[in-house]
Amino acid sequence: MPLPTFAKDEVKVIFVLGGPGVGKGTQCANLVRDYDFVHLSAGDLLRAEQAREGSEFGELISTYIREGRIVPQEITIALLRNAMQEEVKKGHTKFLIDGFPRKMDQAIKFEEDVAVSEFTLYFDCSEEIMLQRLLKRGETSGRADDNIESIKKRFKTFVDTSMPVIDYYRKQDKVITVPCEKTMEEVYNLLKEKISDRMSI
Ligand code: C5P
Ligand code: MG
Repeated sequence: MPLPTFAKDEVKVIFVLGGPGVGKGTQCANLVRDYDFVHLSAGDLLRAEQAREGSEFGELISTYIREGRIVPQEITIALLRNAMQEEVKKGHTKFLIDGFPRKMDQAIKFEEDVAVSEFTLYFDCSEEIMLQRLLKRGETSGRADDNIESIKKRFKTFVDTSMPVIDYYRKQDKVITVPCEKTMEEVYNLLKEKISDRMSI
């Protein structure tokens, strides 16, 4: 079997998972501000590809995002691999990969072809609170999926398709769970504590 793009000692990959609106992007931005991490959001990369003139995947991505469905893994993994290669060229090696892997096939394929993860951060929160945060964000985000119809579909996809990924890594003892119902500052303090128990940051 061909080797992954990045060897184990070349990059450190942390997956960041949790339901929509849980605050993954916000907490990753905090970590980037304070430490030596690169933040790559799979959703942001997909939205950028969707908006890129001449993209052959634009329409497909837009449909999947509106429906809250998981875009075929080849597309997302290629975007992530390219983005990682660009960062490694600049000397960056520590990655927070946010909103990924959202489906088992993404987890398996990424670890086979791109890099093996150190661990997964799982941001845990009730749907009620995530819904409040998403509706608030929807007032200004301009995102095509921050509306009640899409949100319901995204919650369902998270439970049916993404939770099995968290269970898979939990069985390997590779999940750090961070409760996310408190304020952004309290969650961030707990997050820092939990990460530094596991790796030097
Ligand atoms: O993470 P975010 O909420 O930005 O993702 C928005 C949408 O992008 C998801 O609901 C899904 O349609 C798509 N996505 C995906 N695969 C991922 C991450 C996001 O298909 N790994
Ligand atoms: Mg996000």
